[in-house]
Order: sequence, then structure tokens, then C-alpha cells
Amino acid sequence: MPPYLLGIDIGTGGAKALVVDTAGNVVASATEEYPLYTPRPLWSEQAPQDWWDACQRAIGRVLASGVIAATDIAGVGLTGQMHGLVLLDKNGAVLRPAILWNDQRTGSQCEEITTWAGGLDRLLALTGNAVLPGFTAPKIVWVAEHEPEVYEQIAHVLLPKDYIRYRLTGEFATEVSDASGTSLFDVANRRWSAEMAGLLQIPMSWLPHCTESDVVSGQISEAAAATTGLRPGTPVVGGGGDQAAQAVGSGIVRGGIISVTSGTSGVVFAHADHFAAEPQGRLHVFCHAVPGAWHAMGVMLSAGGAFRWFRDALGQLEKVAALETGADPYDLLTQAAARVPPGAEGLLFLPYLTGERCPYPDPNARGAFVGLTLRHAKRHMARAVLEGVSFGLRDSLEMIRGLGVPIEQVRASGGGARSPLWRQIQADVFDTELVLINVTEGAAFGAALLAGVGAGLYGDIHEAVAAAVRVVSSTQPDPAAVAVYERLYPSYRALYAALKPTFDALA
Ligand code: XUL
Repeated sequence: MPPYLLGIDIGTGGAKALVVDTAGNVVASATEEYPLYTPRPLWSEQAPQDWWDACQRAIGRVLASGVIAATDIAGVGLTGQMHGLVLLDKNGAVLRPAILWNDQRTGSQCEEITTWAGGLDRLLALTGNAVLPGFTAPKIVWVAEHEPEVYEQIAHVLLPKDYIRYRLTGEFATEVSDASGTSLFDVANRRWSAEMAGLLQIPMSWLPHCTESDVVSGQISEAAAATTGLRPGTPVVGGGGDQAAQAVGSGIVRGGIISVTSGTSGVVFAHADHFAAEPQGRLHVFCHAVPGAWHAMGVMLSAGGAFRWFRDALGQLEKVAALETGADPYDLLTQAAARVPPGAEGLLFLPYLTGERCPYPDPNARGAFVGLTLRHAKRHMARAVLEGVSFGLRDSLEMIRGLGVPIEQVRASGGGARSPLWRQIQADVFDTELVLINVTEGAAFGAALLAGVGAGLYGDIHEAVAAAVRVVSSTQPDPAAVAVYERLYPSYRALYAALKPTFDALA
């Protein structure tokens, strides 16, 4: 049998096990879900044991599919939700539920850490990033302040996928892309920041060994082999945080190629050959899972989510028509929007329906239609929503350009990339070629490619991407539409500042 690679993704919704061959063909896949707990407002927690149980079940299912045998798996790569805090005692026992990336309890700890560090500029110099409530370090400070009986038993701090590494291999290890989201990592120099740890009085012995993402960090233990069915001794590579691993799986492994993922939220992700922090900390700048490279990332909270809101709030007729004809209501809305010229005859839409993160870290930001006249019908509003979200994504692209990162090609993925009209609007608003690729499996696919590098099946990650990732369609910008959007973009940009006092008053 040819060698296969296993990617494991410890997501927020479930654990996915994905088996691919070295040409990138998916041969088996299984996902097992687990609950998310919100015991108090703003809290978001999961049980690390649930991740491990689900992970064992998912691996068991891909092996039971009979398509591959455990002895055919040449390497395992790990990925998962970033930033989550897993605390273990000296015996490796979990001390409390993991505090997740979307937990919002640590606002005051973030302010304390910024003060202890001497302000944002010093924080950017030490870690490359502002400290956000979702990141790991403020959660450790929160535990010190609110759960001292837990704090005094801490012997190990791990990220979600690295807890699974510990269960699979017995090793306490992580890799640079996930470590970058802890606020304890010197992103520029790709190592733990002794200075940040000192400021927060966190012993360095708590932090796992950190490698580049394609390096083998352990082998499947006899104990893990017994419960998963994997072969003892199978190498487990570093892997990557979900965003970095997904980017590897989309071939974002050299400068000039950017990915735009529009699911509910929108993520703009760029490979960078050199480290540069965004001067105001408005973009995440983390180590990439590509050795010696970095990435810049902007997140908008409502991308596809804004169009879903539009469908649900104003698309009742399309929903009924779709039920009768078997069509998709989104397609009916975009077909109508396609009859409206670029610029929606002077109608602009602000997509901040759930507040915003990049470029405005502002929970009070709100959505708006601006410029309505008697001429405007629903189809204009639908087009304005697609255009407004594209302008919001362009805000992140502009910040990435500001770091000196070139933008030659955008690879689109997520639900928003399914619509040809929306792809054309994005190509025109960004003024770049927009392409689709053959891969739709997300982060687990990138983790499997990283496993292939660690296991020696590929010379490096570029060779892996060349073997497995292909462009399957291309949309070119239309110069006439590009000119319209160039004229409108400054007006879109001016709206947030103009409406900010109103947003605050409404909130
Ligand atoms: C990255 C981030 C999310 C989580 C969950 O900064 O917050 O991507 O990793 O998916």
C-alpha cells in the first residue's frame, strides 16, 4: 500500500481525522462532536477529555473504514482551535476545563498585562501583537486571580491540539504557529519570551518544548496505540494552529498569495517572508507553519454571516420560491443582485452586524445601509451587502499591503466563495486575480501535509503543496468595475468614523 498521512483537527465543534495520500487525495475522513460549555456569560469552555475521547473515536472510524491499515500511516499531523488554555498538574492530570479562544472573561487581565509590559509598543516589541481576551496569557492571569487553588497546582500549560499530542505521545510540545497566539511568545525570534513570562510570573518550566511546525515532536506511544489502533512509533509532527494549517493546505506558502475565507466570519491570511508587526496591533502577526516565515491575519466578524442575515431578514420570497423549485435562496438573491451595476447605484452597506475585530476592534460597531433612494430595490440591497463585505475584507488586505506584503493572487474559500457573482465582486474590489483550489478539507489537510514533510515523504512544505494543491478556476478583475470600486472605497472607509458616535449612543 502507498504511504498515507493522518491529519487531526481539534476544532471547536468536533475532532476530525482525515487520511490523505501523498498526491492530496482524501481517502477517509471522520468527525466526532463534543459540547461547548458556557457556565457564565462570556465564558466558553470545553473538557480536554472530551477532545481526547472524540479524537480516539474519529481515528477508530477512519481505521475501521477498511480503506487503510494503521501500518500504512507514515505520519500524524495535529491542528486545532488556537489560544485555548489547558492546565495540567505534575502528574499530567487536567486541573480545570479548558478556557477557549472565544472566551471573553479576561478584558481586565488584558489591560493589566498591557500596563505591566509598559504599553502597546512594548507588547508589540516583545510578542508582535496586542493582547486580546481570547489569547492564552490573560487566561493564566485570570486563573491566578480567581482560582488560586488551581493556580498553585499548575505544572504544564498546553494548547488544545498539544494536549492531544501529550495523550498520543506523552510529550509536552508545541510548535511556533500556535505558540504565537499565547502572548508569551517572541514571534519575531520564534521562541518563548522569557521577558513576558517574567512579567507575568509564569515559570518557563510550565511552557512546552517548541519546534518549527514540520518537525517530529514524538511517536505514538504503546498506550495510545492500544486505544486508537494507530501503530506504536508512528511519528507525530508539530502541525499548526488552525489558521496556519488551513493556509498550508490552501498553498499559502509563499509571498504574494493570500487567502480570503468567508464563512460566517471572514479571514484574510497572508504569508510574509519577513516579520513586521502592524504598528497599532490591528492585525495578528504570527509565525507561519512554514519554517522561517510569518503570517499576517485580519478577521472580520460578519462576512458570509452578513449575507445570511440578509437572506433571513429580507429573503422570505426567495425562500418560498426555493422550496417550490428546489433552488437555493442564496442563488435567487445573487441572480437578482447581478442585474444591478457595480456600486449598487450609490448604495453602501456597513457589515458590522456583530461588532467588528479588524480593522476596528469595536463591539459597539453596527451594520448600516447608507445612500438609500426611491430607486433602490431589494436587489440593490443584496448587491450592496456583497460589496460592503468585500470592502470590509479589503480593509484587512490594505493593512497587509501596509506591512510591505505583496498581493498577487487571492485564493477564495468558504461559503462566500461559492457564488460566481461574489467572486467577481471580490476580484474587482481587491483588484487582483481570485482563484479557487481543489482542496476543501481545511486545517486537517494542511496538518496532514506537514506530517508528510516530518515523515520525510516530501523534501519540504513547498514540495508537499506542489504535489497536492491545484488552482481549479480563476476570476480576473474587470477594469471598469475596479474603477467604480476605487471611487467608492474612500466613502465606505469614511462611514465608520462618521457613525462611531451614533454606534456608541445606540449601544
Ligand atoms: C485564530 C482564532 C480562531 C480559533 C478558532 O486567531 O481565534 O481561528 O483558532 O478557530
